[in-house]
Formats: sequence, C-alpha cells, structure tokens
Amino acid sequence: MEFSIKSGSPEKQRSACIVVGVFETRKLTLAAEILDKSSDGHISAIIRRGDMEGKGGSTLLLQNVPGTLSERVLLVGLGKERDFREKDFLAAIRTTVKTLNDTGASDASIFLTEIAVKKRSIAWRVRQASVAVLDATYKFEQFKSKKDEVRRPLRKLTFAVSRRTELAQAEEALAQGLAIAEGMALTKDLGNLPANICHPTYLAEQAQAMAKEFNLGCEILERADMEKLSMHSLLSVSQGSRQPPKLIVLTYKGAKASEKPVVLVGKGVTFDTGGISLKPGAEMDEMKYDMCGAASVLGTMQAVARMALPINLTIVVPATENMPDGMATRPGDIVTSMSGQTIEILNTDAEGRLILCDALTYAERFEPDTVIDVATLTGACVVALGHIATGLFSNKDALARDLLDAGDESYDRAWQMPLWDDYQELLKSPFADMGNIGGRWGGSITAACFLSRFTKKFEWAHLDIAGTAWKSGADKGATGRPVPLLTHYLMQRAGKLN
Ligand code: BES
Ligand code: MN
Ligand code: ZN
Repeated sequence: MEFSIKSGSPEKQRSACIVVGVFETRKLTLAAEILDKSSDGHISAIIRRGDMEGKGGSTLLLQNVPGTLSERVLLVGLGKERDFREKDFLAAIRTTVKTLNDTGASDASIFLTEIAVKKRSIAWRVRQASVAVLDATYKFEQFKSKKDEVRRPLRKLTFAVSRRTELAQAEEALAQGLAIAEGMALTKDLGNLPANICHPTYLAEQAQAMAKEFNLGCEILERADMEKLSMHSLLSVSQGSRQPPKLIVLTYKGAKASEKPVVLVGKGVTFDTGGISLKPGAEMDEMKYDMCGAASVLGTMQAVARMALPINLTIVVPATENMPDGMATRPGDIVTSMSGQTIEILNTDAEGRLILCDALTYAERFEPDTVIDVATLTGACVVALGHIATGLFSNKDALARDLLDAGDESYDRAWQMPLWDDYQELLKSPFADMGNIGGRWGGSITAACFLSRFTKKFEWAHLDIAGTAWKSGADKGATGRPVPLLTHYLMQRAGKLN
C-alpha cells in the first residue's frame, strides 16, 4: 500500500473516493460540510432522508456527488461528537478500510485525520491511522493454495491535514507509523507460523537476515555455548526436544557507544506442550504463539532500525521448544541457573521463567540502562486482565510510568500489577533456593516475582502478554502487540514523539 499526506480542499481532490465523517445525529464534520456546500446541499439532503444518522460503525457510499472531482464520497459515522475518543477514531479508520475494500475504489483520500481527537496531535492521528490501516489489511495466507482475492484492492491512501504547517509533522508521523506497522507485521508473521516451521533455528535465521538488512550486530549462542555459560535453567527446558535451542542477540547502535543500551528480552518458546507436566489437548495448537515475546522484540528492533532512532538497543531471545521425551526434565528436578541460584522445577509447564532467568542474567553483560522482558508467561495474567491490557511489573516506578504512558500513547495499553515482597514467600522450596511455581493464586505475580530474583542489577520491567499477543476464535491470529508500546517507549526516549 502506498501512503501520502496532503493538505487541500476535499471537493478539489481527484481520487476514486473521498472519505469524510458524520457525527451523531447527522452533524457534518468540516470536510463533509465543505463537500455539502460545493454540491449545493446534496449531502445534507441525503442525510435528511434518514440514510445516515452518524452512528459509530455506519457508512454510506455516494456516487457522483456534484461539485466534486472524485467518483465517490464515503460517509463514515463517528458516533457522538462529545464522546469522540481514540477508540472511536481508530474504529472509524478500520471501518473505512473495510468498506473501501468492498468498493471498486483502489485509492482514496481520507479526511478523518482532520477531526479533532481530545488531547491528540495531528502526528498522533496520522501515525495511528497508518498503523490501523495496515493492521486491518494484514493477512497471513502463505499456506492457502487459493488466496482470498480482493477484486480491486486498495493501493493508495492519502491522509488529509487541515493546514500546510502540519505537513512536515504529518510526514514524519506517517514514516513512523509505517515502521511500526511493518514491525508488527513481522511479529504477526512469526507468531502465526506453525511450530514445525518456526523453530528456534528458524528464529535465529530470521534474526541473521534482519541483521544483514539493517546492519546490526548479531550473535547466536548454541547449546555448547550455553553449557559453557552454565545456563542450566534454560537448557533444562530444551533437553526434551529434538530442536536445538538458540540464544539470539541483536545489537543496534544509533547513539554514542558510551550510552548504555536498553535491552529487550523476549520469550521464544516455539512450542509449549507443557513438557512432562503436559498441557491438556484443547487448543494446544495455540502454544505455537508461545514465542510471541521473541517475535515482538524482533519486530520492535526492526521498527527502531527502520526509523534509525538515536538510541542503543539490544535484544536477547532465548529460543527453545518445551517437549516431553525421554530426556525431558521431570517435576522435582533441581537445576542451577546461570546466576548460581538453584531452582526446583515443580512444574515443567512453568518453563518461560526458566529460560528468561538465564537470559536476564546474560543481559547483565551489556551493562544495560534498562531491561524489559516480554513473555506469554501465564494463563493467570489472562484471567486477571483479559485480552485488553498487557500485565506490567517493574522494580522501578518511573520505568513503569513510562511504559504505561507509552501504552496509552500507542493505544497498546498495559496495566501495572504489584511486585510486593509479600508474594515472594510463595516461591519457597524445601530443597532449592526457590521453586518455579507459586501455587494457585496470583500466578502472574509469582511468575514476575520469580523473574525479579534475576534482575537485581538493573532497572527492569516485565510485560506479560499472554492475553494480548494473539486472538483466538473466528479472527484467530497474532496481534503484533506489544510492538507499538515498546516502539513508542523507545521513540519517547529518543525524543522523537510529537
Ligand atoms: N505459555 C504458558 C502461558 C500461557 C497459557 C499463555 C495460556 C497463554 C495462554 C506458560 O508457559 C505456562 O504454561 N504457564 C503456566 C504456569 C503454571 C504451570 C504455574 C500457566 O499459566 O498455567
Ligand atoms: Mn508452559
Ligand atoms: Zn509457555
């Protein structure tokens, strides 16, 4: 898809479709009013007949509106003007894309970006609109022999800005939006790929390809390297699988060498059977998504490199399968992590924390300013927050605040959960320094508490994306979250957010 920005009057646009908004009830937005005037009241006359009330989600396609240079005008209902917020703006953009795809129009000028959204700049509107368009048109059909062809697919979209002085900001925001959307698409592709294709070696190859394209540092640690580093916790998860584990490291240097990096650590369990603590069969296929943390840090790295942000960023991905075979870890086995702390593995299905703890210890060598891990870590987080908010835990309140803000700004929201010491005792083991589970209650918190024991040396946050990384049911698929949150956090740090 091609995108551009334009400032100019809607009646003078020569395109297959002009898209303008109508508020409830029947209140025209500025661009709709201009079209109405130049068509001698054509639009308001149609609206008076009752065909378009302006309800959110409604649309009305008009052909050959007099006084315009375009073939079509699409009216998009926006709901009540008083209540028009981020969610409604994004919904209007998605409705627009869906409706345009069902028309014969292959290009369109969208005037919805001119509409005021409370507290949101033109840069925000353009950035979010471009992300929403590409998110809504994403398809994963590489394994379909017959592709689902759209008759006249959308090829070109123009976002309108009301003043020429906004052009430069809008152009920059568009470029950012495209970088974020492409990062999300990579994250979705990796997530949606089945585990027989997307195994640890495949993830390592993808990382190498990205390193080549964007000139990043790349290091892949093999099993033997992990043994040398005493990553026995990570290795204990891999030992029941025929697929070799990989520890993937990518380094991007956009700032002075002396500037300490942000390190993102992503859980890369390419398939989670539970191991000997085998999962029940229902929906087990969805455990191919257990590498979405890894996919999201790769997607974020790609977006950052594409934007050439002036920061230093390193990503670390422990990649492995969690399988049950004769060599697999047994419940009750005790391992020594890279940090020296011992772990009694009471449940082999709590494997995410076992690979992350060694990756977090490994992150120390980058002398990080901040470390953020991203993981589909616990079903309990889904019980707590559903599929709307990502669970956020941090040992530093200012960092938590920044991440919450980045989530709000990108509409990829997180919610902070407690990491109080009172929960730590649930991890007690009679035989080792800790168990790897904390019992039935507060499962996302005890998982975060486990990780906190390996993050004492830096400012750290943990994002539990078990509920937000993919959707089940009719529109099953990876969401690309939390690439927008992470990218916005890094853009903010780089001073590149308007
Ligand atoms: N990958 C799962 C978490 C998960 C489950 C994410 C369902 C999304 C949907 C993780 O490895 C896991 O199995 N966690 C266990 C932990 C428990 C054994 C303490 C869980 O949440 O049940
Ligand atoms: Mn598991
Ligand atoms: Zn898992």
